[in-house]
Amino acid sequence: MPYAFSPTGARFLPMTRWPNVATRGPGWTPEVEYNCGVTWKIHQSGIAEWLSDFGEHTRFHGILSDPPYALISIQKRFGGTNAPAQMGSDGRYNRLSTGFMGQDWDGFESLEHYQDWVSEWAEGLIEKALYPGAICLFFGGTRTFHHLGVGLERGGFEIVDTLMWLHGQGFPKAHEVVPGYYTALKPAWEPIYLCRTPRGKDTYRQLMRMYGTGGLNIDGSRIVGDSYAINTFDEGAKPFGDAVGEAYTSREETKGRWPANLILDEEAGAMLGEKARFFYSAKASRSEKDKGLEDYYWMRTGHGDWIRIQEERWAELDKSIRARGCIHPTVKPLGLLRHLATLILPPIPETGKTTLAHPRRLLVPFSGSGSEMIAGLQAGWDIVEGIEMKEDYTMMATDRIEANIGAL
Ligand SMILES: C[S@@+](CC[C@H](N)C(=O)[O-])C[C@H]1O[C@@H](n2cnc3c(N)ncnc32)[C@H](O)[C@@H]1O
Repeated sequence: MPYAFSPTGARFLPMTRWPNVATRGPGWTPEVEYNCGVTWKIHQSGIAEWLSDFGEHTRFHGILSDPPYALISIQKRFGGTNAPAQMGSDGRYNRLSTGFMGQDWDGFESLEHYQDWVSEWAEGLIEKALYPGAICLFFGGTRTFHHLGVGLERGGFEIVDTLMWLHGQGFPKAHEVVPGYYTALKPAWEPIYLCRTPRGKDTYRQLMRMYGTGGLNIDGSRIVGDSYAINTFDEGAKPFGDAVGEAYTSREETKGRWPANLILDEEAGAMLGEKARFFYSAKASRSEKDKGLEDYYWMRTGHGDWIRIQEERWAELDKSIRARGCIHPTVKPLGLLRHLATLILPPIPETGKTTLAHPRRLLVPFSGSGSEMIAGLQAGWDIVEGIEMKEDYTMMATDRIEANIGAL
């Protein structure tokens, strides 16, 4: 089966497995012809290197990304990884000094360094890789998202909103100081920045016509449920309460509720008694994370470090140092990501119009095990490209994408 042309030798799905051929539409321009049949690709690279090699690559219409959070940045305060323990045991120091759950990619010298790092890639993405008005979503961590936000803003993004995903399934990562006193709360929400690249002098309508950017896909993301009443005052909008007693018209809305900047899981929804109004997503299940990774066997070589091994060797290892399937520590749920990818999906150009809006290209910096890429393809993006520096994660992402998209 022929594989599509690959400028960098990355893997592509064969054309016959293209899931969205029907949506490619008449706006398919010769300028991007080389992309025909290409659905996804992962650049195994650091973001800075990827940006410096960007060249004349076609721009993207949006981003869905889960960047590092810099949850632990104590190296500066407590010395390097081999420094003697200055708190707790050497083991605990070592765990904390290497980032989130021992991940070296999440460790930064300081939060200022993290902010500078974010602003550098944000600026590079806007300058080289994104169309004006491109809508971009970035997950953050509750302790450090202010630095992510300032970094994005310093890099040139306009922060349009902050979404909140409220869930009841987190577990407290705390230790007991003295009986009854602990160091942390149970995590129950995650922030997601909704940003836009600068639109210059273009109006939203112009952006939409030229690039398919600037607007949110509200009708495509409505929360389907029972119909509900919408009241509008006959004499025009009077939003601040002095319209009491004035005439209004009530109509039944049936096409679903306007998506909100709050997303819940079942537990949070039940707590709030708001079953029908919001989009729901639970955390990723083990089976969702592992789909496509059935023959992945791992041995732990340090905190957060794993090497892939043969099943026979794995079977002989102690349970405390072995794992199967997906070992990425921050996998997001596909349901949540599909909703987000749909929200920022550009429209298909009108028949006969040739614009830069097609094919619709989603960029996923920091693609990890590929969850955002899978969701982007499932939501209908024509081309999805990831950037991930770690080989093991790129390998897992490749197999997860094939297993999930092949099933479409
Ligand atoms: C928070 S994780 C994203 C995980 C993703 N949500 C998933 O479901 O698999 C961030 C990812 O960014 C990668 N990363 C960190 N620094 C990077 C860099 N400078 N360039 C490219 N990738 C990087 C890490 O290896 C990690 O996989």
